[in-house]
Amino acid sequence: MRVYCGKDYEQASRIAANFISAQVIMKPDSVLGLATGSTPIGTYEQLIKWYEKGDLDFSAVHSINLDEYRGLTADNDQSYRYFMNTHLFDHINIDKKNTFVPDGTEPDAEKACRDYDEIIRAHGGIDLQILGLGHNGHIGFNEPDSTFCKGTHCVQLTESTISANARFFASMDEVPKEAYTMGIQSIMQAKKIMVIVSGEGKKDIVEKAFLGPITPEVPASVLQLHSDVILVGDEAALAGYHKALQ
Ligand code: F6R
Repeated sequence: MRVYCGKDYEQASRIAANFISAQVIMKPDSVLGLATGSTPIGTYEQLIKWYEKGDLDFSAVHSINLDEYRGLTADNDQSYRYFMNTHLFDHINIDKKNTFVPDGTEPDAEKACRDYDEIIRAHGGIDLQILGLGHNGHIGFNEPDSTFCKGTHCVQLTESTISANARFFASMDEVPKEAYTMGIQSIMQAKKIMVIVSGEGKKDIVEKAFLGPITPEVPASVLQLHSDVILVGDEAALAGYHKALQ
């Protein structure tokens, strides 16, 4: 694994954006695996700036997102589709027809997951997968468990996630209780993976995931088995990792 450290969030975001730009420049029809969450926002903002300067062209890029809440429509401002549109897709020249997020409105969970695996397969897999890292080591919505789940699957959100999300919804009934997520196998089959981490809050889990034992109880630890992983972070998030290696 190669590790790249920026002094702060902004610099780390620029490093991460550089890897995505390099990927798109070297292979204009790249399939990018994209993530939501707070961490990649700075990376997406940087990509938008370079696009506006005329340095990047996303017209042939395809994207496949990691996850989506079950039951939320694309126009719900809490859906991951809405997040991707507002934080990236609306501001660059990617063809929205070439952007994929699991279909949160598909009530048949098995179908939703099967269809998404077929989309990944039909694209020939992912060239560069972007990942954030949960405080408990989750990647996508692959939460700590006793086994690794291979394909796209429907997960029950934990009580803590449900109550943390409650503030964004008018009533408890509207808060999503489940999500569709890409599985560990699809993530691990990406040709290249870039994990982006930021802030002191991620320090312990970075060390655990990348230097600790490989176990489904820390889903991101499986990334240690991938041959082409880049870890990009700021000093605060990488402090524990660097210290452990000294
Ligand atoms: C997002 C996702 C999640 C986040 C993770 C970190 O699509 O799948 O696994 O990457 O929860 O979130 P932030 O970046 O908000 O700390």
